[in-house]
Amino acid sequence: MTNLLEIEKLHTGYDGVAVVRDLDLTVNAGEVVALLGPNGAGKTTTLTTISGMGDIISGSVTIMGRPVPRLRHAHRVARWGVTHVPENRGILFQLTVRENLEMAKTKGKVDIDRAVEYFPALGSLMHRRGGLLSGGEQQMLALGRAIVAEPKLLMVDEMSLGLAPVIYEELMPVVRRIADETNAGVLLVEQHVDLALEVADRGYVLSHGDLAMHGTASELLADRHLLDASYLGVESLDD
Ligand SMILES: Nc1ncnc2c1ncn2[C@@H]1O[C@H](COP(=O)(O)OP(=O)(O)OP(=O)(O)O)[C@@H](O)[C@H]1O
Ligand SMILES: [Mg+2]
Repeated sequence: MTNLLEIEKLHTGYDGVAVVRDLDLTVNAGEVVALLGPNGAGKTTTLTTISGMGDIISGSVTIMGRPVPRLRHAHRVARWGVTHVPENRGILFQLTVRENLEMAKTKGKVDIDRAVEYFPALGSLMHRRGGLLSGGEQQMLALGRAIVAEPKLLMVDEMSLGLAPVIYEELMPVVRRIADETNAGVLLVEQHVDLALEVADRGYVLSHGDLAMHGTASELLADRHLLDASYLGVESLDD
């Protein structure tokens, strides 16, 4: 298995104050890894740091053997084949679906058919402006942009945010499919723990910036009381 992403003893945060502490995390090619935890745990901070948009205080983030620079070099990291679908989805509202897809790649020609293959509904929306799409359609476009970018490492932040269950339950397996079909490694931040662990191979749980648990998806699900406890920020509910 190829180690795509390797995080060692990472302290990252804002203005020199760590909000994520001593994090060790890996993502391999073809693997879906869930990054879980309650609000404010440091999930988004971890993703933005991997993308080169954060301030690394200490420790290291290595992507395919290359160290992520300590200070904000997102454009460089993107060229390594890292695609980040942010919480706000990152689509351009003034541009059409087609234009949004065409802009998704840093170099080379975009294969728009590939996005339609994953999301047939996008096919008839090509000329619609991003801002006029429904929330579910916007998220399909955001993932479609990620697919045509052909990432080696894909990170998706809170895909299900603001969407109806019937919609995100359909979107979640697409992430699995991307990993299986393209051998990309996927790091998935998600509030819906069960749904995320259904598609993930492994998971990490952050609590107040500390790594509370990690393991295979089935291990985490089997340790359900511990998993729930880390959401409450306590070690265990037993004592
Ligand atoms: N730009 C910022 N400047 C200073 N502190 C920040 C900034 N962004 C986030 N934080 C703080 O860092 C901590 C972790 O926030 P982060 O957004 O990474 O959490 P999260 O796990 O993504 O939460 P959520 O589930 O709400 O999205 C929080 O205490 C938050 O207040
Ligand atoms: Mg967040």
